[in-house]
Amino acid sequence: MKNIFVYMLLLGTGIAIVLGYYNLFPQKELVYDDDQEGLSDQIIFKFSHVVAENTPKGRAADKFAELVNEKSNGHIKIVVFPNGSLFSDIDDINALKEGQVHIIATSTSKLGVLSPVWGVLDLPFAFPNHEAIHKGIHGPIGEHLLNSLQKNGIIGLAHWSNGFKQITSNKGPIVTPQDLKGQKIRIMKSDVIQAQYDLLGAKAQQESFNSTYNLIEAGHVDGEENTISNIHSKKFYNVQKHLTISNHGYLGYVVMMDQKVWDQQTKNTQQILLEAMDETTAWNDRHSILMNEEQLELIKRNSSIQIHELSDFEKQEWIKELYPVYDILSTTIGSKLVEDIKELRATYRGAD
Ligand code: LMR
Repeated sequence: MKNIFVYMLLLGTGIAIVLGYYNLFPQKELVYDDDQEGLSDQIIFKFSHVVAENTPKGRAADKFAELVNEKSNGHIKIVVFPNGSLFSDIDDINALKEGQVHIIATSTSKLGVLSPVWGVLDLPFAFPNHEAIHKGIHGPIGEHLLNSLQKNGIIGLAHWSNGFKQITSNKGPIVTPQDLKGQKIRIMKSDVIQAQYDLLGAKAQQESFNSTYNLIEAGHVDGEENTISNIHSKKFYNVQKHLTISNHGYLGYVVMMDQKVWDQQTKNTQQILLEAMDETTAWNDRHSILMNEEQLELIKRNSSIQIHELSDFEKQEWIKELYPVYDILSTTIGSKLVEDIKELRATYRGAD
């Protein structure tokens, strides 16, 4: 009888260890008592994202982990899972809500699944330059968007930018908006981006980021739109013949945590996370621009992709063609937000 009891106890312990290892009790990992000093009291946060490590988001996530580790003397550990190795695209939002991951940095375009307000950042040519992006995401518009996450039970910790999107295609060169007519283009899941390609007569396909290379290689799509760092790190330039530097849209991220998980943390932990996040965001603001510039040079040096940069004159035609999207989606996004972004745009561009 005694042997059976010992056997049951050992079996139970074994099962508990295995379940713990696979993180079926995620909350337990986050319990942390400030009075305890041992490393065994380490809190672990899983940070999931879909891009490669050598990108503005990948590097920022690693930098954040490094800073949190330093500031907490190793008590708080951020484990980063890049390349969609845990969850892809918008799956990470569900995973966040279910406690399977604790921090995510989803592209703002994909946050339309939470609220249509996010579409404001996808409006075509909304930001004439990097300064305008900075003002947009770190000013009242960005703040309003972060606050909108409260009703989803999510805390938005920061906006991280990846700069401007460009267009790649195997049916090119893409110089005028008419050149996209009939082309199959992979886009992110976003009604505002969809509306732009619909307007141009292209066949946009909303697919996951990590399926893009294969879709292009297999000829299921002709092209895609993305930042240079994503085009470089995922080697889209190896399967695309043409790249147009269009700077037609913004691509950036919101770093998020589930509100309940956030509320469970001590003030000290919250402060460490916020300080590290502020420093990382400032780092991202500087380095995302540089990384995209450097990686464009690498693409030019190491590939035979044909590059066309839209002239100001050519850009005016794109702006004219795509401008109706502002009106088409104004009610959906919210007319006040759309007016705010138009005003921001006019400030940095002057009247078109
Ligand atoms: C994409 O899906 O193209 C991007 O959102 C990927 C990313 O996170 O930068």
